[in-house]
Amino acid sequence: MPQTIVTIGAQWGDEGKGIVVAELLRNADVCVRSQGGDNAGHTLYDSNGEKHVVNIAPSGTIFDHVTNVIGNGCVVNLQTLEENMNGAKGDLYISDAAHLIFEYHKLLDGAQESRRRKKIGTTKRGIGPAYVDKMNRSGIRAGLLKHPELLEEKLRSAIDLKNQELEFWGVEDRINPDAYLEKMKPLFEKYAPMVIDTRAYLISALHEGKLVIFEGAQGSNLDIDHGTYPNVTSSNTTIGGVLTGTGLSHKEIDRVIGISKVYTTRVGSGLMMVDGDAEDLINNMSNKDQYFQQCKLTDSDLEIIGSGDSNHPLYDQLVSRFIRESAEEFGATTGRPRRVGWLDLVVLRKSIEVNGLDGLILTRLDNLDGIPRIKICTRYVNKNTGEELKILPNNEPDLVGFEPEYIELKGWNSTASIRKLEDLPTEAREFVDCVKSTLGIDIYRVKNGPKQGDYVELKNPWSY
Ligand code: IMP
Repeated sequence: MPQTIVTIGAQWGDEGKGIVVAELLRNADVCVRSQGGDNAGHTLYDSNGEKHVVNIAPSGTIFDHVTNVIGNGCVVNLQTLEENMNGAKGDLYISDAAHLIFEYHKLLDGAQESRRRKKIGTTKRGIGPAYVDKMNRSGIRAGLLKHPELLEEKLRSAIDLKNQELEFWGVEDRINPDAYLEKMKPLFEKYAPMVIDTRAYLISALHEGKLVIFEGAQGSNLDIDHGTYPNVTSSNTTIGGVLTGTGLSHKEIDRVIGISKVYTTRVGSGLMMVDGDAEDLINNMSNKDQYFQQCKLTDSDLEIIGSGDSNHPLYDQLVSRFIRESAEEFGATTGRPRRVGWLDLVVLRKSIEVNGLDGLILTRLDNLDGIPRIKICTRYVNKNTGEELKILPNNEPDLVGFEPEYIELKGWNSTASIRKLEDLPTEAREFVDCVKSTLGIDIYRVKNGPKQGDYVELKNPWSY
């Protein structure tokens, strides 16, 4: 059986990785984050059914039996970590080579985003500026928490420089070094004992036979190199990021599982060929209330969906809205509406190749319940030249003239609360079979409910 399983979001994040990871962790000992920071938002339910949203704390912090690791590839905001650790269980280790996010990173993120003519739609958590400092060799690593005097010296000189940068970007706020240090010191002291060489810890855990889950954050197509640049995050969200972000070698990776919704969502700007709705309209809304005021489905909209007339000019748009409303496709932390469209196999093929995925776990099957005709995008076609694309190219301009091409399947009424493959409606099984055979990849599980344990298993992720 595999000793290590890597989970990777196969789309643009928000695939439901947190709960999938929590389900896998029932049989595992260690949960590792290897990249990203508190831009992630993983919604989880503990054994009492209580809801937790974690951002930088690994998902294993809802369990007593799991040791949690924040690897060197992460950028860590100690204030968010402190919020996430409220009521957390299990041990936590932070890599001494992980970089810290400070207030000035957040301020710079906000300022740079507001100056961008074409917005990325960042989470404004300071992720990009923190990775810039890392790459520029001017960042502050968590290892300095163990050397408070050095940390203070470095932080004071960073604040001095960053205050000048803030002025350059037209930000009025300045960081007061004394006040900021005073505010942060209790956190520095609290988390210093948890800072270790996590690479060495992981090697010894593996030697002891512990089972390890690497928890992906964001998604493969938000990868700084292999994603839809520049609308990406600033880390390597793909398999390479697991190796560089932990210090482990490829020999330690036994299985790589991609997580994908049965439809597509994306938050923020950027390429999404299957977007069912007007990108600008959705992106300009900063919360749920605003969305419901402008877009809430009416009875006649529901009639169009119910008619199953998939050629109706509004069908795709209305189904996108139906899914957004029924599946609560709003950001876990920001409440921003997510863009929604049909499942895109062109996007998934790229993730399969880049990450060497062994298989997929599909999520949110129940959110397609009741939609009479369901589409899957299998390729992009250029109607003028006849050219086809089956894998997402690296640069958006290479897609000019291309349109998504869909196959259509019959929908089903209800999958909710079904736990056995043979009990799924035939049409739902056909949908899963279609994804599996078109991609030529194993499907381990299909989630059909929001809670841990709400899934149908096709193949045990822990067996060969
Ligand atoms: P950043 O990571 O905050 O710099 O944001 C860069 C892009 O990645 C934006 O489009 C964000 O919406 C997106 N992003 C970052 N983290 C997540 C995530 O956890 N889920 C989905 N999108 C994300």
